[in-house]
Amino acid sequence: MTQWIGTANHGFASYAMEELRRLFDGIKFTQLAAGEIFRMELPQSREEVLAVLEAKEPIFLRHIQPIDRLLPIYGNADDLEALSDLVRHARIRCEGRTAAVHLRRAERTPFIYSAADTKAVLDAVLTELGAEPAMQSPDLILSIYAGTEQFYVGWGTPHEQLSDWPGGAVRFQREEGQISRAKFKLLEAERTFRLDFAEFDEALDIGAAPGGWTQLLLERGLQVTAVDPAELHPSLASYHRLTYLKKNASDVKFQPEIFDLLVCDMSWSPMQMVKLVLEQLEALASGATAIITLKLMHKKPLQIIRDVISKLETSFELKKAKQLFHNRDEITLYLIKRNG
Ligand SMILES: C[S@@+](CC[C@H](N)C(=O)[O-])C[C@H]1O[C@@H](n2cnc3c(N)ncnc32)[C@H](O)[C@@H]1O
Repeated sequence: MTQWIGTANHGFASYAMEELRRLFDGIKFTQLAAGEIFRMELPQSREEVLAVLEAKEPIFLRHIQPIDRLLPIYGNADDLEALSDLVRHARIRCEGRTAAVHLRRAERTPFIYSAADTKAVLDAVLTELGAEPAMQSPDLILSIYAGTEQFYVGWGTPHEQLSDWPGGAVRFQREEGQISRAKFKLLEAERTFRLDFAEFDEALDIGAAPGGWTQLLLERGLQVTAVDPAELHPSLASYHRLTYLKKNASDVKFQPEIFDLLVCDMSWSPMQMVKLVLEQLEALASGATAIITLKLMHKKPLQIIRDVISKLETSFELKKAKQLFHNRDEITLYLIKRNG
């Protein structure tokens, strides 16, 4: 039997739980934060759970941490002392490894310390044990969820926890001159799907305005064709690598096989999106990558996702479908155009 904490985007926990129920017989859930964070108990071992998640990662499960230890919270300085002792005696191999401390606090936790204070104290303990505290891509993450009565403490790698951000909450710095928050979605997709947009040459951006995605692709050095009846931000006009077609996507046609990347963020009805994407199929080279957001506008997201994927799979191979932290009522699809 193993215990875990699962996290989804706010309002989507029930879909994550439905996906998990289909993967694990005998799974039991308890809510920790409404619509978002839940505790689960499974008859399977840690290795079995991780192997299943690796093979069939649920779309709506943003983050998972094992519950290796539980500790009562007293609401005073003893709490930091107890956490330090726990880490000191955890018998986790720390020597020569990089490690990060991730603390999340429930809304009504009695724990009085901030994430920064807790991290400072526990980093010192990890250093004592021979680990090197690290922020990005650590070998090990010590995840602590400070609940309303107790700490839930677990160790894992970023890969096992599905993210190297606390609770999978990816934070990017807003840059000066950034056109839209939507840019974060494409940045997160690039990291999550382990892509490097700089490796592509010619991108087609359908539903491009105001231009956050186009801006990112131009910054990565690509030639970009942006299609949208709405206005692109004027700051993009200075890029000579940009072609802007102020049109509806159904009114544009291109030479065959000229794009190696398609991005589409139309926030439109899913089936219309599928139709518009498939209409542009010929313009994509075989093996081209597609990053597409899929709006969840109806009551049955899992059904819509299945329908959309089965239509797209006639021409694309699905690499991954994931609700990213920066997705609101949508998920992001990563696809590769099939040969021929
Ligand atoms: C969410 S916004 C895109 C934001 C953009 N990715 C960014 O980073 O700034 C959706 C856009 O899709 C466009 N759109 C909707 N239907 C379209 C269609 N049939 N053809 C082209 N663009 C469309 C809308 O005009 C709108 O500008």
